[in-house]
Amino acid sequence: MGPQSLLYLCLVVVVATQRVADTAYPTIIESALSIYLEGMAQSEQEPRDDPVTLPEYDFIIVGAGTAGCVLASRLTEIAGWEVLLLEAGGEENFVMDIPIVANFLQFSEANWKYKTVPSDKACLGLVNKQCNFPRGKVMGGSSVLNYMIYTRGNRRDYDRWEKLGNTGWGWDTVLKYFMKSEDITMPELAQDDKYHRTGGYLTISYAPYRTPLAEAWMEAGKEMGQKVVDYNGPTQVGFSYLQSTTKNGTRWSSSRAFLHPVKNRKNLHVKKRARVTKILIDPTMKAAYGVQFRKNGRLYTVRAKREVILSAGAINSPQLLMISGVGPKKHLDDLKIPVIQNLKVGYNLMDHIAKGGLTFVINDTVSLRTDSILARTENYVDYLAFHQGPMSIPGGCEALAFFDFKDPDNPDGYPDMELLFESGSIVSEMTLRRNFGITDELYDAVYKPIENEHTWMVFPMLMRPKSKGRIMLRSADPADKPLIYHNYLSHPEDVETIIKGINKTIELSRTNAFQKFASRLHDIPIPGCKQHVFGSDQYWECATRHLTFTIYHQSGTCKMGPRSDKSAVVDPRLRVHGVKNLRVIDASIMPEIPTAHTNGPTFMIAEKGADMIKEDWGIKTTI
Ligand SMILES: Cc1cc2nc3c(=O)[nH]c(=O)nc-3n(C[C@H](O)[C@H](O)[C@H](O)COP(=O)(O)OP(=O)(O)OC[C@H]3O[C@@H](n4cnc5c(N)ncnc54)[C@H](O)[C@@H]3O)c2cc1C
Ligand SMILES: *[C@@H]1O[C@H](CO)[C@@H](O)[C@H](O)[C@H]1NC(C)=O
Ligand SMILES: *[C@@H]1O[C@H](CO)[C@@H](O)[C@H](O)[C@H]1NC(C)=O
Ligand SMILES: *[C@@H]1O[C@H](CO)[C@@H](O)[C@H](O)[C@H]1NC(C)=O
Repeated sequence: MGPQSLLYLCLVVVVATQRVADTAYPTIIESALSIYLEGMAQSEQEPRDDPVTLPEYDFIIVGAGTAGCVLASRLTEIAGWEVLLLEAGGEENFVMDIPIVANFLQFSEANWKYKTVPSDKACLGLVNKQCNFPRGKVMGGSSVLNYMIYTRGNRRDYDRWEKLGNTGWGWDTVLKYFMKSEDITMPELAQDDKYHRTGGYLTISYAPYRTPLAEAWMEAGKEMGQKVVDYNGPTQVGFSYLQSTTKNGTRWSSSRAFLHPVKNRKNLHVKKRARVTKILIDPTMKAAYGVQFRKNGRLYTVRAKREVILSAGAINSPQLLMISGVGPKKHLDDLKIPVIQNLKVGYNLMDHIAKGGLTFVINDTVSLRTDSILARTENYVDYLAFHQGPMSIPGGCEALAFFDFKDPDNPDGYPDMELLFESGSIVSEMTLRRNFGITDELYDAVYKPIENEHTWMVFPMLMRPKSKGRIMLRSADPADKPLIYHNYLSHPEDVETIIKGINKTIELSRTNAFQKFASRLHDIPIPGCKQHVFGSDQYWECATRHLTFTIYHQSGTCKMGPRSDKSAVVDPRLRVHGVKNLRVIDASIMPEIPTAHTNGPTFMIAEKGADMIKEDWGIKTTI
């Protein structure tokens, strides 16, 4: 069942079972109609699926995700450039843009539904010991599946990128590109014009609704002597409500932000449900000259006069490169793929992971429970008619805090931990256990007993993981999903940092702010960890290895670095080493994962990438 039909079903149930008491308020029918019309209007804003296929374009962009939409938008600013944007998925629709629906989208066709190769180190409590890696397959890519959290990272992240040999990627430069996109709606943040601006394509807002638990989170931080910060400002350590890529209570995906406003450009050609199967590279010239893609069962070949740009994301970009002959020689030899360029494609897979299911039970009815939200007509009316109320909260995430455990007293620390606060939990957000793939055995033993309770949860998220994984091809067939070796928690320091985050969360639960709700740590042990004393470091390590939750920040698999860096796939201008007319521009180029949720940094990479393309073709740019 798609999200659209899901919403309609919910509406029917609500209409059938309830009456709206207050007659001054719009009725549920009126509000459903108003959002239906709004949704129709929105879908007309998305660039249409171009029925014509030209033999040749100036640029071919593979993937209309976070980066691809930015690139298509910026490159078509040059009137003489014909740009083809190829997207494997279909249309985005307004139901996908209701923030609370985020968790449901993973069950739809808009998700590539990847799973990792089972390991004995992590995700042990998940079905078949596999972690789920959802990825957006839709106009807007993963910016349509994501939780809309907008963070940029720490200035040191980018200064480190530059130190690794990536000239032009230091903080002072990338900040300008973060700001180039930005349209901030919070007046108090907009005042700080060294870090923020209004008027860009990418709108950043607070959710229009907050639970009392989110307020308690902010209070708890103050009680512990922590600052309230604008984590996208000069320093990061401290507490904050989430800044999110939302506009007027709706998801502001990269497609809505960057493509809808330019849909009428004659030189923008979008093809949906068009899956690229190969990048065409001349093996003697070592130059890319086009792509092959499949649409409606037909195979097409199109040529690129200037460049092919891969923006297929951190899993599909390395897969496509390897299938096309760019990758580790031995691996390609094993699969009998003719090697055009030997590069370390697929290595350096990074992600942010957290101990999942760290849950606190409270004695009041103030948490977000999807079941009760969906059962109350007012919530539909609030959202459908006004874009307000609990449905405007991005998948239940409301606030966060950054800590530097290595230098805890430094207000300008370099965070190694983010605590992401949810005003609900696995028991109250009905799809979460399936999103992550928790086994029934674990769920029934640990969480079923508190199914009817009100709860909150924190994801203690490891910001700078030492463990790195790898993506490999299963076969040379582009339709085969690649093999994903996450290699999570293979470095002991990663485990220790997460345990410190768990300890910090427990401390926070003991503040007056959370004791007002009699918060108590849910302490039924995980069946596979009963050999350890509950709450000991050994227990938490075991629990982390069982409930290892990805925060979906897969990155790094086509690493950027200078020629001297043997592990680099693209150079600092994002050109594939040794192959002409081919760039990778998306989350896969990150040499090190920033202290950030990766959507914001990916927007920045694409903005900067677009300018580098323009410059390399002789067009003057200013930021
Ligand atoms: C469930 C989830 C929650 C997340 N939450 C957050 C969050 O709250 N905040 C945050 O900052 N980040 C979050 N992220 C991460 C963030 O969304 C990604 O890092 C970012 O969107 C990556 O952008 P990208 O351009 O690299 O790839 P994507 O946005 O994934 O785009 C790749 C596009 O390429 C298309 N494609 C792939 N292969 C082909 C092919 N062969 N042919 C044609 N098209 C193809 C895909 O369908 C997709 O549209 C989340 C991600 C997920 C999945
Ligand atoms: C926000 O959306 C609501 C519901 O569609 C609409 O009535 C309102 O005018 C919008 N507000 C802004 C500022 O666009
Ligand atoms: C976590 O807290 C416990 C109890 O206070 C303590 O014994 C342990 O050393 C802490 N673990 C880490 C990794 O800091
Ligand atoms: C919850 O517990 C707190 C602290 O014990 C108490 O003050 C409060 O009255 C309780 N609230 C409810 C709704 O029982």
